[in-house]
Amino acid sequence: MATLLYIRSSIFGDDGQSSRLAGEFITQWQKTDEHAEVITRDLIADPLPLLDAEVVAALMSESDQRTRQQQAIVDLADRLLTEVRSADRIVIAVPMYNFGVPAQMKAWIDLLARSGVTFKYTEQGPVGLLEDKPVTLIATRGGQYHASGQDHQIPFLQQFLGFIGLKNVKTVFAEGLNMGEELQAQALSEARETLLG
Ligand SMILES: Cc1cc2nc3c(=O)[nH]c(=O)nc-3n(C[C@H](O)[C@H](O)[C@H](O)COP(=O)(O)O)c2cc1C
Repeated sequence: MATLLYIRSSIFGDDGQSSRLAGEFITQWQKTDEHAEVITRDLIADPLPLLDAEVVAALMSESDQRTRQQQAIVDLADRLLTEVRSADRIVIAVPMYNFGVPAQMKAWIDLLARSGVTFKYTEQGPVGLLEDKPVTLIATRGGQYHASGQDHQIPFLQQFLGFIGLKNVKTVFAEGLNMGEELQAQALSEARETLLG
């Protein structure tokens, strides 16, 4: 049985363009295997704690010395990690807000970045500790950045994923969504074509 982890992060929920494209892709993917399982991590409906000193202290604490509060944070981070580990493939729907990933997605990243668990440093540099698997990023934007050299969002996300071992990353862009109806329709149609074939 194949398992797909779906990370969603549009503040517009099901109405978000990234949620729509991801939903269509996942519906098609599920048809390939009637036993296919989808794990959904909705970063907006179920927000994660932001990184602060308390979160860092919890993640770095020894398991036999944790407070109940720290244990709850570690349990949550472990749950996120289990979701990533148990998936055969991952779909990340990532809208651009103010040039970056949604703040809620940054919180997910911050809980996944765990020294000795998802990455380690060696004399040769950092090594990702997660098993590689296909990751599809569905990037929706009001403007156009991909070919301009001004995209700091997807390169950041790819860098982070590669850092923890996920290097097999493909990105499908839907850009120019706020640049008029014609451009929007074209961008969505091209993204669908790439995603759905
Ligand atoms: C608060 C906010 C900030 C945005 N910032 C940007 C931006 O920096 N660059 C851009 O191209 N589009 C920006 N947009 C447009 C979104 O990227 C666009 O609406 C896209 O469809 C968002 O994906 P979603 O529909 O899945 O939420 C912004 C939209 C909102 C609501």
